[in-house]
Amino acid sequence: MPKTVGIGLIGTGFMGRAHANAWGGVNRFFSLRAKSVLDTVAGIEEADADAFAQRWCFGRSTTDWRSMLDDERIDLVDVTTPNHMHAPMAIEALASGRHVTCEKPMAGTLEDARSMRDAARKAGRKGVHAWVWFNYRRCPAVAFAHQLVKRGRLGRIFHVRAQYLQDWGGPETPLLWRFVGKEAGSGAHGDLNAHIIDMARFVTGDELTEVTGAIEETFIKERAIVDGPGAAISGGRAGRRGRTGRSTVDDCLTFMGRMKGGAVATFEATRLATGNQNANKIEINGERGSLRFDFERMNVLEWWDNTLDPGLRGWNRIMCTDSEAHPYVANYWPAAHLIGYEHCFTSMCSDILRVLSGRKSVVPLPTFEDAYVTQRVLHAATLSARERRPVKMSEVR
Ligand SMILES: NC(=O)c1ccc[n+]([C@@H]2O[C@H](COP(=O)([O-])OP(=O)(O)OC[C@H]3O[C@@H](n4cnc5c(N)ncnc54)[C@H](O)[C@@H]3O)[C@@H](O)[C@H]2O)c1
Repeated sequence: MPKTVGIGLIGTGFMGRAHANAWGGVNRFFSLRAKSVLDTVAGIEEADADAFAQRWCFGRSTTDWRSMLDDERIDLVDVTTPNHMHAPMAIEALASGRHVTCEKPMAGTLEDARSMRDAARKAGRKGVHAWVWFNYRRCPAVAFAHQLVKRGRLGRIFHVRAQYLQDWGGPETPLLWRFVGKEAGSGAHGDLNAHIIDMARFVTGDELTEVTGAIEETFIKERAIVDGPGAAISGGRAGRRGRTGRSTVDDCLTFMGRMKGGAVATFEATRLATGNQNANKIEINGERGSLRFDFERMNVLEWWDNTLDPGLRGWNRIMCTDSEAHPYVANYWPAAHLIGYEHCFTSMCSDILRVLSGRKSVVPLPTFEDAYVTQRVLHAATLSARERRPVKMSEVR
């Protein structure tokens, strides 16, 4: 009999749906020693939470997320709420002995992220785990890129060029929590740069040593006020006509830095790159080869093998759907029967269940310790942009 892992999900929005789908589907696709049980979902309004529980097959719903921390059926608390709630929810859940999975960015502020890391260290001594949902690590193409670099196929790395470009943040988009500094911490920076910083660190296995310069901008300074929490990116509510409020986050933040291994790295995150809807991209140039990934063609990894005869060199378009070669693929469909966004979450659930049943994950999971390093880079880039100066990572503890 597989061990059961009771899931207590907090949040019924975009990520609530993505996670409910993944926890519900993981044991259908993967043969594991642990089985997730959709136990409770916590929301704000009773009717919404109840409808969510029915639709996604949770055993029950609640409007009091803390009640899950006394419930012995719940082994893992999954936090999918706005960023300022990550710290209180994760810290209390860890203190109650629950494993925690928390959405990215780890927190809105470095201080919150540090408290979460410390809480995870303490809980870790009792065998409790804490991870952050850097789900793009588990696109087969990204996991494969990580493996290629680890096998030395790129050799010495010269450049890391990462961009996360979206375009939904125009003037017509209302003042969602994502534009409120007290709730989000930052705008495109924490939302999107967090993903590509994690991806760069994950694929290269290298760390930033310095942010040498950064620029941030808030193009749209006033936005229409919405009724209720709103969430245009996952379906929202109309605002009251005429009322506006100030956006207190960046719409874009671009920075550059140096990596320990000598590479020069650039990162760009924006919600106003008209025509780019979810262009989460990375290109890495090494001595022996280069690779390129763009989430909008997520099943493909582009690869240049510089060790071939000059006449044979060229960009290879690798369809990462080979069940023998590409991570996670064997659990889904036959070759070139493509997978999508939701599969990255399902694959992450499978690795979580592997670790909770004493096995190793297929590729490394982003622990709180690991995600805190990404949060330090976010903080260094913000400092660099605001103080218009280089910031060494050793300054940001
Ligand atoms: N990994 C990814 O690709 C990805 C994508 C989008 C968002 N995110 C992250 O996920 C988190 C949530 O984003 P979202 O897009 O789902 O936002 P959303 O606005 O769609 O959903 C947030 C949810 O939190 C719930 N909530 C707020 N306060 C609550 C409380 N006290 N108790 C219970 N529920 C509460 C709201 O009801 C809502 O359902 C953010 O941290 C965001 O950065 C990650």
